[in-house]
Amino acid sequence: MSIKIQNVKGTKDILPANSQLWLETESIIHNFMSLHGYKLIRTPIFEKTELFNRTIGEDTDIVTKEMYTWTDVDGTSLTLRPELTASVVRSFVQNNLQAKSPLHRLYYIDSSFRRERPQKGRQRQFTQYGIEALGSIHPEQDVEVILIAYRIYEMLGVKDLEVHVNSIGSKDSRTNYVNALRDYLMPYKNDLSEISQNRLHSNALRILDSKSDKDKKVLENAPKIFDFLTKEDVKNFNKIQSLLTELDIPFISDSNLVRGLDYYNGMTFEIVSSSIGAQSALCGGGRYDKLVEYLGGKPTPAVGFAAGLERLMLILNDSMSEANNMIDIYIISMDDKSISSSLKIADKIRNTHGIKVVCETLRRSMKAQLREANKLNAQFVIIIGEEEIAAGEVIIKNMEDSSQINAPIDSVENYFGVDYEYK
Ligand code: HAM
Repeated sequence: MSIKIQNVKGTKDILPANSQLWLETESIIHNFMSLHGYKLIRTPIFEKTELFNRTIGEDTDIVTKEMYTWTDVDGTSLTLRPELTASVVRSFVQNNLQAKSPLHRLYYIDSSFRRERPQKGRQRQFTQYGIEALGSIHPEQDVEVILIAYRIYEMLGVKDLEVHVNSIGSKDSRTNYVNALRDYLMPYKNDLSEISQNRLHSNALRILDSKSDKDKKVLENAPKIFDFLTKEDVKNFNKIQSLLTELDIPFISDSNLVRGLDYYNGMTFEIVSSSIGAQSALCGGGRYDKLVEYLGGKPTPAVGFAAGLERLMLILNDSMSEANNMIDIYIISMDDKSISSSLKIADKIRNTHGIKVVCETLRRSMKAQLREANKLNAQFVIIIGEEEIAAGEVIIKNMEDSSQINAPIDSVENYFGVDYEYK
C-alpha cells in the first residue's frame, strides 16, 4: 500500500519552472550587496530560545505565538530562527568581530520560520535577505541601509513602492510616549478591537499599526511619538530625511510606523507595495543601538533591514517570461548507435565552452525530440543518426532561422564560440 505525504502547511516547494528565477534573483542580490561593500554571514538555522525571547521581546507576537520551539534531549530549549538580526548580533559578539574593525557591513539570504496563518505572501518557512551595518551611529548609515533596500526593488522594476520612515526615539522617550498613549487610549478601551484591547497593557505601541478601522478612528487624536523625541533624535531624523531627499528616494514620514520587534530605537522604516495584495510589507528595518551591548558585546550602534524574498518573487513571477528556460543546444539521437556519440559531443561542448547542452535520454522519435528542443527554447540542435556516423558528420540546425550545416563529428565543439554562435 502506498501513502501520500503532503508538505507541511505554510511551506512551499520551489519547482523547476521557478527555480531559475530564484537563482537569478539571489545572484542579483549577492552582487548588489557586494557592490555596496557588504559581506555574507551565515548563522545556524536554530539557536537557544532565550536569544529570541530576550531580543525580539517576550510580549511580541513572534515570541508569544509564532516560534517553532522544542526541548532538546539535554533539556535545552531550542528555536528555529524567526528572523536573523538576533542571530547575526549573537555571532558578532561571540566571534568578537568588533575587535577586528570599527564597522561591519554584513548581509544574508536565509530561511526563517514563523507559525503565522499562511496566506499569499505569508508562509511558515520563508526566506529573508537583509543587511546589518554594525558600528556607525550616524544618519548616513541609516540612509545607506534604506538606499540599498529601495534600490534593489527599483532595479528589479517593482512598481508602486512606498518608503515609510519614522523615528521611535530612545528607550526613555518611548517609555514616556507609551505611558501617554495608554493614558489616552484607556477611556476608549471598549471602542478598540479585541486584539488592541489585549495589547493595551502588554504592547500598546503595536496598536498604532493596527489595520482595524475602529482602532484607526480612536487613534486619530492620539499623542504622536514625534513630540516625545529628544533633540538629538529629532536632529538625526531630520538629517535622514534631508539625505533621502538629496538621493531622490521618495518617502513618507509616518509617525504610526512601529515595528513588531522590541530591539529598535531611533529610525525605523518599511517599504510597501500595493502590487502584492494584503501582505504589502516588502521589507522592514531600523536602528538597534543597544542590542550588541545587551548580548554581552561592547556598545556598538547598528542598523539594518530584512526583506521577504517570497514577496519579491510574487511580483517578479508575474513579470517574467518563459525565456528563462533557454538552453543552448539540444542533441537529438536518431537511434541506439548514436547515443554514445551524443553523450561524448555534449560533454566536449560543455567542457570547451561552458554552455548549456542537453541530450535526449528518452529515445523518443525525431519529431518528439524536436518538439522538446523547442519547448526548452534551444538555440541549436545537433542531429546524430546512423547515416551521419557513417559519414563522420553531424547536422547542426539553427532553431531561429532553420538553417543547417554539416560538421565533422570529431570536432563539432569547434563550431560553437563563446557567443554561442556557430562559425
Ligand atoms: P520583519 O518586519 O519581522 O523584520 O520581517 C522583515 C520582512 O520579512 C517583512 O517585511 C516581510 O517581507 C518578510 N516576512 C516576515 N514574515 C514573513 C512570513 N511569515 N512570510 C513571508 N515573509 C515574511 C525583521 O525580521 C527584522 N529582523 C528586520 C531587521 C533587520 N531590522 C534590523 N535589521
